[in-house]
Amino acid sequence: MTIKIDTKKSLPKGVRGVVVLTFSDKSTQTWLPANIKNILEKAKKSGAYKSKKGETLVVPQFGKKPEWIFFIGIGDKQSITPKTLQTCSSIAVRSAQSKNINSIALSIPEELKKKISEENIGELVAKGLELGSYSYTAYKSGKKPTIVKSATIFSTKEWNVSELKKGARTGITIAKATNIARDYGNAPANVVTPQVLADLAKDIGKKNKQKVTILNQKQIEKEKMGGILGVTAGSIHEAKFIIMEHMKGKKGEAPIVIIGKGITFDSGGISIKPSNAMDEMRYDMSGGGAVLGAMKAIGELNLAVNVVALVPATENVPSGTSYKPGDILTYADGTTVEVMNTDAEGRLILGDALIYSRKYKPKVVIDLATLTGATAVALGDFATAIFSNDTELTENLIKVGEQSGEKMWHMPIPEQYSERVKSKFADLRNTSSVPGGGASTAAAFLKAFVKKGTTWAHLDIAATAWKMAETQDSAAGSTGVGVSTLVEYIKKA
Ligand code: BES
Ligand code: MN
Ligand code: ZN
Repeated sequence: MTIKIDTKKSLPKGVRGVVVLTFSDKSTQTWLPANIKNILEKAKKSGAYKSKKGETLVVPQFGKKPEWIFFIGIGDKQSITPKTLQTCSSIAVRSAQSKNINSIALSIPEELKKKISEENIGELVAKGLELGSYSYTAYKSGKKPTIVKSATIFSTKEWNVSELKKGARTGITIAKATNIARDYGNAPANVVTPQVLADLAKDIGKKNKQKVTILNQKQIEKEKMGGILGVTAGSIHEAKFIIMEHMKGKKGEAPIVIIGKGITFDSGGISIKPSNAMDEMRYDMSGGGAVLGAMKAIGELNLAVNVVALVPATENVPSGTSYKPGDILTYADGTTVEVMNTDAEGRLILGDALIYSRKYKPKVVIDLATLTGATAVALGDFATAIFSNDTELTENLIKVGEQSGEKMWHMPIPEQYSERVKSKFADLRNTSSVPGGGASTAAAFLKAFVKKGTTWAHLDIAATAWKMAETQDSAAGSTGVGVSTLVEYIKKA
């Protein structure tokens, strides 16, 4: 989608739909065509439209221009949040698409400026529009659904056009990168293999002058990446360890390392999962997808930062060559892990990446992983679970998430849980010796691979990386969660 900011006081040419975001209390939109203002006033007065958050009023014009008017409520001024603005922009674009409209003009109330900066408004609206327009139809034959290709934001002298534009450019870049992450999360596991993730990284790196290194099976063996070697043993698809370097910050400055779990399909392995919803386990590479998406956006925005991305990529399937419960895996730093359950594979491959990250003497390490079903039990899709050894990083990430529409909830890593991942026969075991607290247990396991003194956070996106059903503002399936948070965090670093 292309986004334009228009200051001309006329409806842009070819626009078939006009979207009007309105507050439920006073909503000033200095320039709106008189006929639209008139309808809005009548609708409000009659009670047909209250402008409640997410409320939509769709008005056909029967031959008059514009063909359709979409009023979208954003609630009252006092309770407006960045998330609401983004979500309602998504609702707007999906309303338009449902009427086969592929170009829209959009009016936003001027009072928004009091709560959110103009740059941020541009970003949130652009992001909401692009994310909302998304649908995954790669494998559907027949006519594709209508997608909004162009959106023009009405502007007047009340608005700082260059700030709006700057924000919109960031927003569209992040949203497009998020949609790429969604494509890979939605795509089937017979298509998205570790090699395909590696190809995506190479493609992004080439376009954005980022160095990309792919370790193949032999090199992974040479690096003694015991976790990956264990998990990949049953698969016919060769594992890959993806390394991307975006070194555009100060020379010699310690990088931020971002790590993403890249399990292209998680059947559980020998500790096989129930078949119910196993198809969804193709999104078990969503951490990796988010990290690659973030690198794409960081590259396109040409951010002056040092960032390294690491994505261990493999499939987890049962076969005669698979790793088994009771196996002991040995890592590059000598750590040994007893495999209690082959379905707790994510933490095993992240262990290798956390060890590898030490090479870079990172300033911060952030990993993203669809790590535990327990996170889905604890929080559902309400928020991403954040675990960390650093309060400041936690608070920072939560704040960034709040502003970019990705909610996070702080979860504990109790000292006792670190005891519970100690093994009788090896240094560690990959499940707890005591039932309960699965999400925190996984975090405690990862923490054992984080060097003392390294600032680290782990985001468990098991429940937020996937939407079971379509909603007013989004398609079902992969969400691309994490791209926004990573880019915004890195942008401010
Ligand atoms: N990929 C799963 C976690 C998951 C479950 C993600 C549901 C998204 C939706 C992970 O590899 C896993 O299987 N975890 C196990 C750990 C257990 C064996 C200790 C789990 O959560 O059941
Ligand atoms: Mn698993
Ligand atoms: Zn998994």
